[in-house]
Amino acid sequence: MMVPVFTLNNGVRMPALGMGTYPLNGVRLTGLVAGALHIGYELFDTGGAYGNEIWLGRGLFCSMKRRERYFLTSKVCNRDQYEDRVEEALELTLRRLRTDYLDLYLIHWPVPELFPETWLTLVKMQKQGKIRAIGVANFHQHHLEALAQVSDVVPAVNQVELHPLLSQQPLREYCQARGIQLEAYSPVARMHEKLIQDPRWPDLVSRYGKSIPQLILRWDFQHGVIPVPKASSLRRLRENLSIFDFELSEKDMAVIDGMNCDFRVRYDPDHCDMTRL
Ligand SMILES: NC(=O)c1ccc[n+]([C@@H]2O[C@H](COP(=O)([O-])OP(=O)(O)OC[C@H]3O[C@@H](n4cnc5c(N)ncnc54)[C@H](OP(=O)(O)O)[C@@H]3O)[C@@H](O)[C@H]2O)c1
Repeated sequence: MMVPVFTLNNGVRMPALGMGTYPLNGVRLTGLVAGALHIGYELFDTGGAYGNEIWLGRGLFCSMKRRERYFLTSKVCNRDQYEDRVEEALELTLRRLRTDYLDLYLIHWPVPELFPETWLTLVKMQKQGKIRAIGVANFHQHHLEALAQVSDVVPAVNQVELHPLLSQQPLREYCQARGIQLEAYSPVARMHEKLIQDPRWPDLVSRYGKSIPQLILRWDFQHGVIPVPKASSLRRLRENLSIFDFELSEKDMAVIDGMNCDFRVRYDPDHCDMTRL
């Protein structure tokens, strides 16, 4: 299965769908990564806070795939922002992942007062050649506006919680207008019952012959959003990747858009300080 790519604002090409890895860990993750590469995954999402980079690195290393065949994202955790250890954190992440560069490095969380300084550090680090693209995660529009006050470098990516119950339309429009690629975490809302019990799904499922996760991930793709669903079996990983052989009509895109109710399954960056992340 060939995964299409989106081109980021600095020309770096990023696969249109990837594998989320949290909270997978240990040899289970190592084995799944090798399997995921085999069936066509090329984008892997991790973070310093996940404690699983070493296991992901092993899976990638054991696969014997050439480094340029996959796209690696990691994130600076909040602890490293607080303790002013962002540069050391990158070195540790590279060592754990057994690579000498990252494709994408994100600020995991807009730690109040610290994130503009962290951004300037990422801008500096990118020039040293160990990171191909830099971006942010969990940034609202006002966080992005604050970054623009301190730097001309526009984040290549903003990774946020995004699914049909939290479609993030205003943020999506803001990011699209500024060349910031939106990436969806918790893209299937962790299969929350509020999502999967929506009475609009059965009709869509039967007309397209696709599962709810597949319809959602396709909806992301048609909105120009890159999802990173996490799944714990090769069967589900394959299912989640099989979304490039059909197209949702405009009318059905609108049906899924209509499910939005600004419901989160994860934390709101404005209402949670996440000091320990
Ligand atoms: N930047 C951030 O702050 C942040 C926050 C949260 C997550 N993330 C990233 O986003 C990734 C995904 O988010 P998430 O894990 O929170 O939520 P998610 O991907 O929306 O949901 C994962 C859950 O959905 C189930 N699932 C996935 N595909 C399925 C399928 N085809 N059929 C049935 N069930 C399916 C999984 O089950 P099984 O595992 O049992 O297969 C798992 O329980 C994470 O792994 C992480 O890499 C980033």
